[in-house]
Amino acid sequence: MATPPPSPSPRRARIAGAGHHLPDRVVTNADLGPLLDTTDAWIRRRTGIERRHFVDGTEGTADLAHKASLRALDDAGIGPDQIDLIIFATLSPDVFFPGSGVLLGALLGIPGTPALDVRNQCTGFLYGLQCADGMLRAGLYERILLVGAEVHSTGLDFSREGRDIAVLFGDGAGAVVLEAAEDGSGVLRTILGADGRHAEALWCQAPSSRQFPLRITRDDLDHKRHFPAMQGRMVFKHAVVAMRDAVRAVAAAEGVALDEVDLFIPHQANLRISELVQRELGVPPERFFNNIARTGNTTAATLPIAIDECRRSGRLKAGDLLCTVAFGSGFTWGSSLIRI
Ligand code: UT7
Repeated sequence: MATPPPSPSPRRARIAGAGHHLPDRVVTNADLGPLLDTTDAWIRRRTGIERRHFVDGTEGTADLAHKASLRALDDAGIGPDQIDLIIFATLSPDVFFPGSGVLLGALLGIPGTPALDVRNQCTGFLYGLQCADGMLRAGLYERILLVGAEVHSTGLDFSREGRDIAVLFGDGAGAVVLEAAEDGSGVLRTILGADGRHAEALWCQAPSSRQFPLRITRDDLDHKRHFPAMQGRMVFKHAVVAMRDAVRAVAAAEGVALDEVDLFIPHQANLRISELVQRELGVPPERFFNNIARTGNTTAATLPIAIDECRRSGRLKAGDLLCTVAFGSGFTWGSSLIRI
């Protein structure tokens, strides 16, 4: 009896290209010291951050995304007109509305291409990834441009009062071109979670459409409600548990042992969070990627920036199994297993 041909692998979203862009202006901990009444030693010890990139007035969120996208498209060897859908994850859109996805479409010169904005903060890239993967699996599209981009620096409180948050964040963008593949590579599974009971533990209160009669007032500005506010220790503890459990859940669902994973890329919120997650999972530190020292926390841009850095440096190679994990405001969290 003739041996039947092997059944094709399921259709999945494969990373066909990646790119990132960080603005030129580098801001060190020492630069922030006099403004925030902080020190390089405090920031390094509590967060692992040494420097971050800030815009200089010439670039907005969609501009950063545009530069990252061009690199990702070049890496994939395709032009913008071959993209069927843009998914844009950000918590710092250029304007209150419309979303930055349509602005990116205009910058790329692809009028008519649909654009979806995702508002899930540090987990935005993984929410976008699950959407993209589902759409590609369903055959709705062949190629999706998934971008995470943020400009934090124009929205932070650079005074002593805001120092707990202002030291953490950086600006930047990362992008991946996802294409439907049936060769066994691609997103094996993404799991997501959210718990809005903790929305106020890390949020930006103003402007607020539920505030009557005006969504932003002088009183909001006087009380700094237009700056992010965070219960740092509470967020820290939830992050460690949720990220650890998300990795365990996605691995169990796929029947993958953690020592089969070639590289873990955790969201970069605080080096101490990543180190605790790594230790709780019992994974050697050399398989846990960190770049927070150079970038700070770039929220939705963090994972695609890191994925691109790892691909270009050879830390991620074809056939490798990658596990990404994130936690952020919402609370939201998620983890994804991707065969490169
Ligand atoms: O990306 C989304 C998720 N975000 C996170 O995961 C962030 C989670 N949280 C954290 O990373 C940490 O809570 C922080 C790094 C934000 C703060 O570290 P901490 O060890 O939790 O400090 P704390 O907020 O409990 O504050 C301890 C002390 C306070 O002084 P007193 O009251 O003990 O005198 C703060 O005023 O540290 C002080 N402090 C600072 N001192 C110098 C807070 N921020 C700073 C600062 N420089 N930048």
